[in-house]
Amino acid sequence: MLIRLAYTSTFRPHVTDADVDEITSKAAAFNKQHSITGILAVEGERVCQILEGPREAVEKLFESIQRDERHYGVVELDVSTIDKPGFEDWGMVRRPMVDIVTLAFSM
Ligand SMILES: Cc1cc2nc3c(=O)[nH]c(=O)nc-3n(C[C@H](O)[C@H](O)[C@H](O)COP(=O)(O)O)c2cc1C
Repeated sequence: MLIRLAYTSTFRPHVTDADVDEITSKAAAFNKQHSITGILAVEGERVCQILEGPREAVEKLFESIQRDERHYGVVELDVSTIDKPGFEDWGMVRRPMVDIVTLAFSM
């Protein structure tokens, strides 16, 4: 079963833009290996991420993400089952925050 999970959080002040790029590229590699894909949007310190993939894999990853001390205040916005992924199998990419808002009204 495939799910799509969306959450918001806030980066700790020490996290730099270069750190976010590193998180994204490591995430892309890991996610691809686990049939997960999604998008990450960062504006200032605020984060919104959407993860899609097999339920067990996404839930396990989300547990690690929630424990990650580089951010705090993780709030799960939505989790739903999906018939097929809405994103390509790029693993993880950074997108402007407005793209997530646009997606939320088109999915
Ligand atoms: C905002 C944010 C988003 C993240 N997204 C992913 C992701 O999509 N895939 C991934 O493998 N790690 C992601 N990470 C990193 C994980 O939180 C964690 O460092 C990684 O799963 C390794 O966990 P481990 O050290 O417990 O094995 C993200 C971290 C943060 C702070």
